[in-house]
Amino acid sequence: MAEPHTDFSFKDHAPKFDSHIGASIPGYKDGLLPTCVALSRRFVQPGTRVLDVGCSTGHLLAAIRRENQAARPDVSYVGIDCEPNFGRHWTRRRAKNLAFEVCDARAYDGYNNASLALGIFTLQFLRPIDKRPLLRRIYDGLVEGGALIIAEKTLAENSRMQDALTFPYYDYKLKRGFTPDNILDKERSLRGQMTLWTETELGSALNQVGFGQLQTIWKNFLFVGVLAIK
Ligand SMILES: C[S@@+](CC[C@H](N)C(=O)[O-])C[C@H]1O[C@@H](n2cnc3c(N)ncnc32)[C@H](O)[C@@H]1O
Repeated sequence: MAEPHTDFSFKDHAPKFDSHIGASIPGYKDGLLPTCVALSRRFVQPGTRVLDVGCSTGHLLAAIRRENQAARPDVSYVGIDCEPNFGRHWTRRRAKNLAFEVCDARAYDGYNNASLALGIFTLQFLRPIDKRPLLRRIYDGLVEGGALIIAEKTLAENSRMQDALTFPYYDYKLKRGFTPDNILDKERSLRGQMTLWTETELGSALNQVGFGQLQTIWKNFLFVGVLAIK
């Protein structure tokens, strides 16, 4: 009988997570991340907080702090993630106004006074029932003019598009050094754990919780980044 399959574990990937996610998501390192950093200059307000929800190693939050620190030194940067094994990365990144917390984003009570929130491929790991309530709490905690930058793997809007995009993505991963077994094992381990929306569903949910203005800022295969302004 075949071995039972386990869920995808961030713990196993924590030591080399930055290179894992960089190789897994086309355009992540040279497209999405620099876009988030560049946009931060427009949204980070003096005396507020920047929150990275599901921050993994803290690399993006640290880059956003570097970008804004000289101009707005009184901003606090807080990264939360439910996986404690990212702690070793946080230790070397910690600074006076840069802190990290092991915490389930659904139970976190520090969303207040944020001018910028980030949710980069995090919501897709929540149960469908938990997604809108988390988006609402993030929205409620943002100051006027604050923004959420959210990136998600999405489902295509129809089955023909899903079919057209699935294998080119596997080909991309093969070129980045993943083996066919790696690709299949990851798909298996993510089954039932990754709960994807279409881009339209993501937009509707953001509108429903209150975000009035949305703009797609980055896209690669079915990976989408959206800027949502309060
Ligand atoms: C695909 S990773 C992306 C991480 C990070 N945003 C990045 O770009 O490197 C998703 C992250 O969400 C975290 N996560 C998943 N569910 C969470 C929850 N309920 N609360 C906090 N973090 C969560 C995982 O531990 C993981 O670090």
